[in-house]
Amino acid sequence: MILVTGATGNVGRRALETLLAQGREVRAASRAPERATWPAGVSTVALDLADPASLATALEGVEAVFLFAAPGCGPAFVAAAEAAGVRRVVLLSSGSVDDESEEQDGPIAAYHAEIERALRGSTLEWTFLRPDVFAANTLMWAGQTKGGDVVRGAYAEATAAPIHEADIAAVAVAALTEDGHAGEIHRLTGPQSLTHADQAVIIGEVLGRPVTYQELPAETVREAMSAHVPGPVLDDILKVWADSVGRPALVTADVEKITGRAPRSYRDWVSEHAAAF
Ligand SMILES: NC(=O)c1ccc[n+]([C@@H]2O[C@H](COP(=O)([O-])OP(=O)(O)OC[C@H]3O[C@@H](n4cnc5c(N)ncnc54)[C@H](OP(=O)(O)O)[C@@H]3O)[C@@H](O)[C@H]2O)c1
Repeated sequence: MILVTGATGNVGRRALETLLAQGREVRAASRAPERATWPAGVSTVALDLADPASLATALEGVEAVFLFAAPGCGPAFVAAAEAAGVRRVVLLSSGSVDDESEEQDGPIAAYHAEIERALRGSTLEWTFLRPDVFAANTLMWAGQTKGGDVVRGAYAEATAAPIHEADIAAVAVAALTEDGHAGEIHRLTGPQSLTHADQAVIIGEVLGRPVTYQELPAETVREAMSAHVPGPVLDDILKVWADSVGRPALVTADVEKITGRAPRSYRDWVSEHAAAF
C-alpha cells in the first residue's frame, strides 16, 4: 500500500492519479477527505500531519509514503512510520535547502531541512525531491490576466526555471515504486530559465493577446501580499526574487534522467492551464 499525503495538492493529486493508473494499491490522505473530490474507487483517510494522533490509522499496512512537508511534522511522522513498519518515504522537499550550510537561509529552507534531518536519522529508506519554483505559482497572476493584459508584480527580471507539477509527480512515482532511489536527492527544475517578464509574454502568446509584466516596487508588493502570506515567508520569497535578478536559474537534468522524458516547458504548463488565465 502506498500512502499519498498532500493528495489534494498540485503534486500529490498527479502522483495519486499516476499510481492509480498503474494499478497500484493507494491510499489518499487529506485533513478533510470528505470535502475533496477523488478519482473513482480510491481509498481515503483523514490525516493531519500536525496532529500525531491521526498518523497510526493512516499508516496502517503502508509500505511507502509520499510525504508533504507540513512544517514541524518530521519527528512524529518518523516515529509513527517506523512503528507502522513503513519501508520507504519520498519527501516533497525544496530546492531552497542548502547542504553546504549549517544554518538554512530563511524559514522555507529551514522547515524543509528539519524534516529531511528527521528522515536522515531514521531507519526509513528516504528520497528527497528538491524542486525549484513551481509553474503553478504563476496562478497568482490569473486574477490580473482575466481582468486585463498587464501583470503587476515585483522584480520583472527575477529568474526561475518553472517546473510542471506533473514532472515532480512523475519523479515521485518512480522513487515510490522503483529501487535505486534510497538516500538520493533529486534536484528538479523545468527545462528553461525565464524571467517573470518572459513568463507573462508566454501566457499572452498562449492566450492569443499581448500580456506584459509591469514591475512594482518590492515594498508595494510586500504590502499587497501580506494579507495572504506570513511576513517571514514573504521576506524569503522577495529575497529569492531579488537575488535571482541577472542570474540565469539553475536547470538540471534530473527529471529526464529519472523519468526518461524531458521536463515539460512553461508554455506546455500554461497551455494546460489556459482556462485559469
Ligand atoms: N510552490 C513552490 O514553488 C515550491 C517550491 C519548492 C517546494 N515546494 C514544496 O511543495 C509544497 C506544495 O506542494 P503542492 O503545490 O503540491 O501543494 P498545494 O497544492 O499547495 O496543496 C497543499 C497540500 O498539502 C496538504 N496539507 C497541508 N497541510 C497539511 C497537514 N498539516 N497535514 C496533511 N496534509 C496537509 C493539503 O491537503 P488537505 O488540505 O487536503 O489536507 C494539500 O493537499 C510546498 O509546501 C513545499 O513544501 C513548493
